[in-house]
Amino acid sequence: MTTALRVEGLTKRFAGMIANDDVNFDLLPGEIHCLFGENGAGKSTLSSCIFGFYRPDRGQIFVSGEPVHVGSPIDAIRHGIGMVHQHFVLVPEFTVLENIIVGTQRSGIGLKAADARKKLSRICESYGIVVDLDAYVWQLPVGRQQWVEILKALYLDARILILDEPTAVLTPGESRILFNIIGEMCARGLSIILITHKLAEVMQSNRVTVLRKGRVVATLKTSETSPDELVRLMVGRDVSFSVAKPALAPGEEVLAVEGLTARGHWGETVLNNISFSVARHEILGIAGVAGNGQKELFEVLCGVRKPDAGAIRLRGEDVAGLTPRALMDRGVGHIPDDRFREGLVPEFSIAENLVLGWQRSPKYRTGLMMDRRAIADLARDMIAQYQIAARDETVAAGKLSGGNAQKVIIAREFLHASGLILANQPTRGLDVGVIEYVQRQLLKKRGEGFAIVLASEELSDLFSLADRIAVMFKGEIMGIVDPRTTTIAEVGVLMAGGREGGRS
Ligand SMILES: Nc1ncnc2c1ncn2[C@@H]1O[C@H](COP(=O)(O)OP(=O)(O)OP(=O)(O)O)[C@@H](O)[C@H]1O
Ligand SMILES: [Mg+2]
Repeated sequence: MTTALRVEGLTKRFAGMIANDDVNFDLLPGEIHCLFGENGAGKSTLSSCIFGFYRPDRGQIFVSGEPVHVGSPIDAIRHGIGMVHQHFVLVPEFTVLENIIVGTQRSGIGLKAADARKKLSRICESYGIVVDLDAYVWQLPVGRQQWVEILKALYLDARILILDEPTAVLTPGESRILFNIIGEMCARGLSIILITHKLAEVMQSNRVTVLRKGRVVATLKTSETSPDELVRLMVGRDVSFSVAKPALAPGEEVLAVEGLTARGHWGETVLNNISFSVARHEILGIAGVAGNGQKELFEVLCGVRKPDAGAIRLRGEDVAGLTPRALMDRGVGHIPDDRFREGLVPEFSIAENLVLGWQRSPKYRTGLMMDRRAIADLARDMIAQYQIAARDETVAAGKLSGGNAQKVIIAREFLHASGLILANQPTRGLDVGVIEYVQRQLLKKRGEGFAIVLASEELSDLFSLADRIAVMFKGEIMGIVDPRTTTIAEVGVLMAGGREGGRS
């Protein structure tokens, strides 16, 4: 069978490091082929080379058996290749329709607006995709923004579609819809390259290529491999998926929230009468489908959103309405869910990002000057501990792979917090080896006496880490349950808005 796409001997270097090393890869018509590998293994780089975003140093790309030159994304699109990036590249102030046709018209590959609208409506209908073409992108939740990217590729008649961690920003329900549509695309002869860290998704594909430090270590049929084997190939060791949580009696109360209420841009209630408390040595899990108030809850707790009513007490002190700075000074660490927009300054180095917000601390100063050497030493230590894949501590955070950027934020917050950690989706986008490490770190902090609020869409994370789980639905807490006496199914009922049967 002729391959839809073939890559031969592709090598891509960035200053001082090799991101793709002599990669061979092929994609069959109608196939879903996963790229699997640790954070920084070179998956996004390989995709970006295929899509003409990066120019490889060596190697040849073939489309339908013919050698092609892909010098830019426009070339890629002409050859029927589409890509949805790990970090979206939409213009928030434009509508969905404008985002799709802008750029394509100028380069002579798109249609007039009216024709574009017709074509897009037809595509949406045939795949059952629901998106308002006239909505502004800034109004859309991230999951919906992804549909825009996928629509754009279909609109440009992609026959080969590269999806870089598409489900990292989707709820489980949205992920299922995406997989149905991917299946439909394959049935129509499209070929898909899917990048994901989730083993369950890898196992739904036809074949998987495992990358390690830029090299291909294996290409396997998923029907002939297992999650355990894939993880071993990826990290070169066994990863235990269950971390042992020692029994610990909660200590004194650290954070208490009472009757917290907050409204959104249009006056709608986003948090409704939320109450809970977290004590030393305790992890309070927050379960819920994304978009049910978790983000707003964390924003209020870390001081970037003002509550409209209710009390927040930190070790007895009323802190509602304090600035993020004041809360940081009181020992609150915050890992936001949108790491690139809120957590990092892309132009700053890893070292600078690791002390971001703490540059004035005496720890990092000698007299009036920043103590560059102390900061560099610290950064090298963090790079080693968290296995951050980077040449050294001077690399700009914007050049890190998605997972490695996340590690910088986690390292900084774990380093500076003293007492309370607010973690919103901390393991999103991390490879399974690093997830295990972060889970151990959370438990270590719990052991040291921290109080931790941990939101995760992965119920398995919450069941293995949390001492209690609060379930959010439409801005309310539906119930707070004990994971030792509650099943995942019962939590699922609360997540869908059912009430708790009187347990606490
Ligand atoms: N523009 C760039 N400049 C310098 N180095 C880069 C650049 N883009 C990527 N790299 C480096 O290349 C390596 C591979 O990164 P890549 O983004 O391909 O990893 P990945 O497999 O997609 O990881 P993740 O799962 O974390 O997204 C990393 O070490 C990264 O720091
Ligand atoms: Mg990546």
